[in-house]
Amino acid sequence: MFEGFTRGHANIDGVDIAYVIGGSGPPALFLHGFPQSRAMWARVVALQATGDGTAFEPCLLGCNFTTISFIVRCGRTYVAQGVSMLTVTEALKRRISTRAFQPQPLAEQLVREILDVARWAPSGGNLQPWKVIAVAGAERAAVTELARRIHATEGPDESTERPVYPPNLWEPYRTRRYKIGEDMYALLGISRSDRSGRLAQFARNYEMFGAPVELFFIIDERMGYGQWTHLGMFMQSIALAALERGVSSCMQEAWASLRLSLKSHFALDEHELVYCGMALGYADETAPVNSLRSDRAPVEEFANFRGFAKASI
Ligand SMILES: Cc1cc2nc3c(=O)[nH]c(=O)nc-3n(C[C@H](O)[C@H](O)[C@H](O)COP(=O)(O)O)c2cc1C
Repeated sequence: MFEGFTRGHANIDGVDIAYVIGGSGPPALFLHGFPQSRAMWARVVALQATGDGTAFEPCLLGCNFTTISFIVRCGRTYVAQGVSMLTVTEALKRRISTRAFQPQPLAEQLVREILDVARWAPSGGNLQPWKVIAVAGAERAAVTELARRIHATEGPDESTERPVYPPNLWEPYRTRRYKIGEDMYALLGISRSDRSGRLAQFARNYEMFGAPVELFFIIDERMGYGQWTHLGMFMQSIALAALERGVSSCMQEAWASLRLSLKSHFALDEHELVYCGMALGYADETAPVNSLRSDRAPVEEFANFRGFAKASI
């Protein structure tokens, strides 16, 4: 979609607007409604750009890539105040694990704003048992280099004390895990027998899938299961607050394999450890891996309703 077009983000009055632009000559602005996305104009815009005219296609209100509404009046485009119409339900359904990002940096202010919203996540006893280290630029490069060096020489350095998955995963979890992996590798054209291809894709975790920012979530290892769960709520809140601002994410427990190195790199306190990472940035919509959509078990499979009055027909 939008082949040959340039993708970009414009900052207008502090509001980030994603767009695609192509062609030359007098510009034509293509707007989409809600809840459509810019995809609705893809074919028309392609024709426009091959003719004598520039096509400019911004992402509008409530779509995944921006949080801005446009008002078009008398041939001029006015930018209304940055508002998002993304409902909680839409945000929950639209959030996906993004595994290919554009290199475009994220402003520190935007990352701060996302954390400022997510800090309202609940936690038992209001402990807020989390700390975050957000890395970008040179610090990001230092962390990816650390990962590269360790993987090239010593291999992952974390003990199996806290494995990401329990050993010998049982059903239905085993099949679910298998399926999402197979679906992803199929999209990438990496076969089951292509072990090095699969390893190379997994190693992309340690390049943050190209994301300009990685959040590292720190927890005190003395915390119990409860507090680790609460940290998870905080992480999901971040992912949703990011999405609302057109920022995509991928949670990355892959970083658990480097806990000791990261602990020393970040000079964490005695009991602190890195639980997980989260890549943050603008999705590369052209990357096949980002078209992966995972499924979920239906409500009947995991919920048991007891004591409800029968619905009257
Ligand atoms: C805590 C947590 C850690 C994860 N770690 C990784 C990871 O290291 N690498 C990765 O590619 N995906 C990771 N994922 C993404 C999951 O595979 C993904 O959430 C799941 O397959 C459902 O897909 P979706 O996020 O696109 O809905 C992680 C997800 C969670 C919640």
